[in-house]
Amino acid sequence: MTLTSPRPVSAPSGLPQEQLHPGTPLRVGLLGCGVVGSQVARMILSRSDDICARVGRSVELAGIAVAHPDRPRARLPQDLFTADAESLVARDDIDIVVEVIGGIHPAYELIMTAIEHGSSVVTANKALLAAHGHEIYAAADAHGVDVYYEAAVAGAIPIVRPLRESLVGDEIRRVMGIVNGTTNYILDKMTSEGMSFDQALADAQRLGFAESDPTADVEGFDAAAKAAILASLAFHTRIRGSQVYREGITGITPEDITAARGMGCVIKLLAICEMEPEGVSVRVHPALVPEDHPLGGIRGANNAIFVEAREAGHLMFMGPGAGGSPTASAVMGDLVTVARNRMRGVAGQPQAIYGDVPVADIGTVHTRFQLSIQVRDQPGILSQVASIFASHGVSLQTVQQSALEGAGKEDGWSATLRMVVHQTRESDFEACLVELSQSPLVNGEPRFIRVEGM
Ligand code: HSE
Repeated sequence: MTLTSPRPVSAPSGLPQEQLHPGTPLRVGLLGCGVVGSQVARMILSRSDDICARVGRSVELAGIAVAHPDRPRARLPQDLFTADAESLVARDDIDIVVEVIGGIHPAYELIMTAIEHGSSVVTANKALLAAHGHEIYAAADAHGVDVYYEAAVAGAIPIVRPLRESLVGDEIRRVMGIVNGTTNYILDKMTSEGMSFDQALADAQRLGFAESDPTADVEGFDAAAKAAILASLAFHTRIRGSQVYREGITGITPEDITAARGMGCVIKLLAICEMEPEGVSVRVHPALVPEDHPLGGIRGANNAIFVEAREAGHLMFMGPGAGGSPTASAVMGDLVTVARNRMRGVAGQPQAIYGDVPVADIGTVHTRFQLSIQVRDQPGILSQVASIFASHGVSLQTVQQSALEGAGKEDGWSATLRMVVHQTRESDFEACLVELSQSPLVNGEPRFIRVEGM
C-alpha cells in the first residue's frame, strides 16, 4: 500500500475540505526516520484527513532528511528522502521541522537554522534540550515561533504540557518520577525474577529495550537530562543536565533487592526535583520506594511521574516512556498543536522559564537513608554505632540485626546491622559514613541507599 496524498474529505456540511479551508498546506520537514521518525511519517501520511480536520488545513510531509536516502523504506515515498538536512531546514516553504535524530550535533544547528528561517519546531531530543534548551527557547521567542517537546520526557506520557500549561497557575512542590524504562525493566526483573544486574541487562538488550552500549540508561544520564527539563518547567528556572546529581543502577545487587523487600520496598531509579531552602534540588539515583507507593507498582519498561502541587495535590502520570508508536504519538500531539498555532498566526504558550534559582548541592539536600554495616555481635557495639550517628545529629528510626551470611563470617564479623535514619541533611549522613568506614567497629565499607516516598 502506498500512503501519499489525502483522499478528499467531506466536511459535515458536505462541502469539500478545500472549500472550507482554502490555502496552501502546512509543510513539515522531518529530521530522522528511525524507530520514532518512521512512525511519525506513517501517521502524517495515513491520518492526513483527521489531521486536516483538526488543524483546519492539510499538513503535508515535504521532506525527510536521513543519512542514507537511497535505502528502501517500506510504505514511505522514496522521493521524500534527502541526505541534505541543512537545505531542508532552510527551505522557505517549510512551516514545521520535526527533529527526531537525537544527539546534540547537528540537531542543535539544524533546529537553530529552522527557527531562524521562521519554522516552528517539534523535538523529542532530551539531551539537546537539557544542554541547550534555553538558547533554543530564546531563539524561538525572538523569531515568534514554537518549540514543543512533549516526547522528550517519558515518551507517550503527557507531562511537559501539564507542567507548562495545566499546572502553570499552581505551585509545584516536588516532581518525582521513573523516567527511564530500561532501568525500570532491569530493576523489575531483578525484583520479580531474582536476576542479577548483568542477567537483567542482557535480557533487556535481547528484547531491544537496552542499547548495546547501555551507559546512557544504566548510569542515569538519560534520566538526568529528563530531570533537568522537568525541573526547569516545574520551578520556572534554568537547569541544565550537567547540574543534575546522578547515580546509576550498576551497583545494585540481588542482596539489596532482598533487603528492600524485607522493608516492604522496591528499588527504583528516581528522578527527583524539589525546592530546598538552598535552591532547586535535582537528582537521579536509585532509592527504596514502598511497594504501595504509586511509583512502587510501576512494572517493566513503563514510566511514571508523581507531581505534588500546592493546590492540585498529588497527581500521577503513567504509561509507556519509549518505543516508536508511543513516542510518535507525543510528537504528533505537538505537531497538531503547532500547526494550529501557525494557522492562527500565533506562537503558543511561552516556556515561563524565567528564574535563576541556584541548584542545591547534594550535601544540602534533606532525605532519608537505609544503611547496612557488618559488625561483631558483642555487648556494647550497638550503642557505640548509635553514638556515631548521634554525634552528627542523625536520628535513627529503625535498627534491625541479622546473622551475617557469607564473606566476613570467618573473621568474627557475625552480624549485619541495617538501619533507617530519619530525614537528615545529606552532608551529616556522609560524615557518619566516613566515620563508620574508618571505625574498627565496622568491617569494610557501609552500604547505603536513599529512601523516598515514605
Ligand atoms: N532509553 C530510554 C528509556 C528511552 O529506556 O527509557 C528514551 O529516552
